[in-house]
Amino acid sequence: MAVLKIARMGHPVLMRPSEPVEDPSSADIRRLIDDMIDTMQDAPGIGLAAPQVHVPLRIVVYYVPEARTADGVGHPLTVLINPEIDILDADVEVGLEACLSLPGMSGHVPRLREVRVRALALDGNPLDYVASGYHARVVQHECDHLDGVLYPMRMTDLSTLGYVEELAKTD
Ligand code: NI
Repeated sequence: MAVLKIARMGHPVLMRPSEPVEDPSSADIRRLIDDMIDTMQDAPGIGLAAPQVHVPLRIVVYYVPEARTADGVGHPLTVLINPEIDILDADVEVGLEACLSLPGMSGHVPRLREVRVRALALDGNPLDYVASGYHARVVQHECDHLDGVLYPMRMTDLSTLGYVEELAKTD
């Protein structure tokens, strides 16, 4: 268990597609996932993708705090290995995002309101569920990291991108 160094925007590991995990049950992958969870909780953050800790593999860890959602329904700590996102509905919502790889910044990002998530869980079993609202946003943000995409690359209004401290002054 260890807290790993987080890559920041501009580092090449964040800008390229990551590789699928071949053996989700290997000791190395388990150790990496444990360290990713430690790193996310230490930051603190609510999601982390393996390339953010300089490992170009298709792994995401996240959770959704109840307080962040409109309906008060959170989502427990979840590990996604080799995740795939399917579009269920073309509805898009714009919402605030931040990222541990762009410390101190936030911006408004359009995301699909509802997606189907398929992946392998930590125990190697398949996961298949529907995420909506803020939960869908978190999953799309984290899975984008696996394809070398950071949230500013999804923004349609860059005037909303800024330092949280400065944005707070104009609220
Ligand atoms: Ni991020």
